[in-house]
Amino acid sequence: MKSHYCGEITSKNLKEDVTICGWIHRRRDHGGVIFLDVRDIKGICQAVVNPDQKDSFKLAESIRNEFVVQITGKVRKRLEGTINKTMHTGEIEIEVNIINILSKANTPVFPIDEYQEVNEDVRLKNRVLDLRRPEMNERIITRSKITSLIRNFLDDNDFNEIETPILTKATPEGARDYILPSRVQPGSFYALPQSPQLFKQLLMIGGLNKYYQIARCFRDEDLRADRQPEFTQIDIEASFLDEEEIMKVSEEMIKKVINKFCGDKLSKFAVLDWQDAMDRYGCDKPDLRIPLELIEISDLVKDEEFKVFSDPAKKKNSRVVALKVPKGNSMSRGQIDEYTKFVSKLGAKGLAYIKVNDVNDIENGIQSPILKFLNVETVTKILKKLDIQTDDLIFFGAGSESIVNLSMSSLIKKLGEDLSLYTEKWAPCWIINFPMFETNSDGDLTPLHHPFTLPKCSSKEIKNDPENATAYAYDVVLNGYEIGGGSLRIYDKSMQETIFEILKISKEEADKKFGFLLKALSSGCPPHGGIAFGLDRIVMLVTNTNNIRDVIAFPKTQSAACLLTDAPSTVEKAQLDELKIESTHKED
Ligand code: AMO
Ligand code: AMP
Repeated sequence: MKSHYCGEITSKNLKEDVTICGWIHRRRDHGGVIFLDVRDIKGICQAVVNPDQKDSFKLAESIRNEFVVQITGKVRKRLEGTINKTMHTGEIEIEVNIINILSKANTPVFPIDEYQEVNEDVRLKNRVLDLRRPEMNERIITRSKITSLIRNFLDDNDFNEIETPILTKATPEGARDYILPSRVQPGSFYALPQSPQLFKQLLMIGGLNKYYQIARCFRDEDLRADRQPEFTQIDIEASFLDEEEIMKVSEEMIKKVINKFCGDKLSKFAVLDWQDAMDRYGCDKPDLRIPLELIEISDLVKDEEFKVFSDPAKKKNSRVVALKVPKGNSMSRGQIDEYTKFVSKLGAKGLAYIKVNDVNDIENGIQSPILKFLNVETVTKILKKLDIQTDDLIFFGAGSESIVNLSMSSLIKKLGEDLSLYTEKWAPCWIINFPMFETNSDGDLTPLHHPFTLPKCSSKEIKNDPENATAYAYDVVLNGYEIGGGSLRIYDKSMQETIFEILKISKEEADKKFGFLLKALSSGCPPHGGIAFGLDRIVMLVTNTNNIRDVIAFPKTQSAACLLTDAPSTVEKAQLDELKIESTHKED
């Protein structure tokens, strides 16, 4: 249908007869001459229709934006003064011979260009138009190219791409399952995979050695800017590789992606112990581009009368931390109030601060609402411990570990952004030595990764002290985003049974849910491990957006709805009857 892409015609094609196909980006009527900007996946090209081409001219007059056309004509140089140096095709235009309208279009709901701020719901409802916008088009293409590079990299490293089932059994990754009723076995349900975890382990036991899959995963969980209910993992597993070897391949892969698509060389990945990351940054996905850290001051304030500090300083699972903001003294009261509101929303009871006007004059050179509650020696010790200089500001967080960590780690990220504190473009790191379990709100232990992660201790030790057991588990964090996570796996049946026991999964339940795994574990299981990267998050970082919906062609909203197709939706009663399902939902 076409001889050239619109965006690829240049002076090299002068005097050639060409045929292009695409959308009318803009039509301009210049008193007697009609200019048509035609757009396709490679860019935009200008076509000119003269009145002496009677039929074409008549058609051109009826053409509107977003019509799909086929145009044949001769490439010529644009007139001096009309050359557009910013456009790849800006030196030429097509003198139109024949126009063929392939498809008409209603007036678009929003203009197809990069200059419009369009409400996201409107974009999602009209996704086909939104996808035509150059920046969306580019992101989706970049996604495809990243996937392809990763496939090639893994192929070259001897990994085999293997598909695993979508209609399957629950695969616990900490979210709720999406379940699907079976028609042929009424009363039974499939679960959509939260990840291919168990199948990739079975592939290792099946002797497949090195596996990968660009795998769709489904998780019914609270959605955020970097989470979707269905998303894509670059899922990897290998036998007879240790932790370091898996980390090495992963690092190489991420370095290749960033180098190819951003032109940057990633530095060596920092390696942080999980506990160290929690202590210093309050979270296990620190943005190491921001040079701010939490300093524990519990020991300095535990005997103070100021209960806001001394109570958590003495309590188990609580902490008091200080955060130095170098040169933060110029921050206005209004700004500090904004940050106080910000941390309050995350559960903090306040945000004490000290502004240091003169570090050598504790009596008069310091401004703070808590000065009256603390004795001078303590303040002096705090300033010393933090190596405070004149003009610095200190924020304080006190309370339960979970609230202090959440609020202060979020504050670090917000300050980094607001005050442009980034010291580098990319800061990759590994978080290692994760605890095996965390305690949930009911006081029960739950796996921090998943229950198939290999602990760094014996069955007996973990049974005696599960809270303090650590695991061969590792996450990759890039600029504050967790882009990947993995672990070595349990390859011994009795250890797997111990973990189920600690998680209060009875033998019967374990057999019912994971019997196939336990059986496979006792059929000769190689030591194995792997990792899964969030493809969507990698594409977000590469294409510089903080909205995961911008890198997925047909994403879902925060309430897991597809505004384009109106999914999820009700189904006919007959269909439910066939599935032997009755809905108890009552419309409000
Ligand atoms: P995990 O649950 O850490 O590990 O997931 C791996 C990576 O997938 C991405 N990710 C998501 N991306 C978008 N939306 C979501 N809802 C979402 N959830 C997770 C993250 C995360 O780092 N089976 C293990 C991997 C393994 O042990 O090999 C797993 O799924 O970038
Ligand atoms: P209050 O005595 O509650 O008025 O608090 C005195 C100062 O301590 C105020 O600046 C509060 O913002 C701050 N503050 C109160 N609770 C906390 C907390 N849990 N962590 C940090 N600062 C706090």
